Amino acid sequence: LPRAVIFDLDGVVVDTAHLHFMAWQRLAQRIGIPIDAAFNEQLKGVSRQESLLKILAAGGKSGTFTQAECDAMAAEKNADYVGLLAGLTTADILPGISELLHTLREEGVLTGLASVSQNAPQVLRALGLAQAFDYVADTRRITHSKPHPEIFLNVCEALNIAPQHAAGIEDAQAGIDALRAGGIFSIGIGATLEGANHRLDSTEGLSWAVIRQQWLRHQA
Ligand code: BG6
Ligand code: MG
Repeated sequence: LPRAVIFDLDGVVVDTAHLHFMAWQRLAQRIGIPIDAAFNEQLKGVSRQESLLKILAAGGKSGTFTQAECDAMAAEKNADYVGLLAGLTTADILPGISELLHTLREEGVLTGLASVSQNAPQVLRALGLAQAFDYVADTRRITHSKPHPEIFLNVCEALNIAPQHAAGIEDAQAGIDALRAGGIFSIGIGATLEGANHRLDSTEGLSWAVIRQQWLRHQA
C-alpha cells in the first residue's frame, strides 16, 4: 500500500481552480485574448508566469510585451485572484478531503502537498489546514512547473518515501503527466484527464478505501 499520499491543492483540496480561471479570463479579456474553459485545462497546475506566456501565445501575442509589462499583468491577475479568495473558509474544502486526511493520519500514511501556487500557505491557513500535511512543498525551491515531476519528487524526498511507494491526486493534466514522469501512482479528478492510474469525476468518490483498492489492483 502507499506509504504517502501527495495532494495537489487547487481543484483537489479546495474549489479554487475556477477562481484562477476567472482571474486569468479577466486579464486575458482586457488584453484582447478570449480564453475558454477548454483552454483553461492547459493552465491548470502551471505556474503564474508560465500561464501568462501560454495565454499570450494562444492570442498570437508572444513577445509583444516587455518583461516589466508581463510582471505587471501577472501581478494584476494575482491581485484579482487574491481578492476572489477573500472569505475562503473550511466550507470550501472539497468533499471527502477532510475525511481522507483524517484517515491517512490514523492509518500512519504520510501526507504531502505539491502545489506550485505561491498562495498555497495562505489558502491552507484560510481552510484551517496549515497543520494538516506532513510536508508542504516550498515553491521557492521549485524551478520547474508541472508536468515536470520536480515538485512531486521534492515532496517524496522530504517525506523520505520512494516515488514508487507514493500516490498522488491531481485535477490537472500537467499534474497527471508529472506524476507519471516521477513514477508515482496517479489518481485523476476530472472528466478529461488522460493517463491516470485511476480517474474519478470528483473528490466525492475519493477515500482511503478507494486508493487502497486501486493501488492493489494495479499491483496485481
Ligand atoms: C496551480 C494552479 O495550483 O497554481 C494554477 O492550478 C496556478 O492555475 C498556479 O496558475 C500558480 O498559482 P499562483 O497562486 O502562484 O498564481
Ligand atoms: Mg490543481
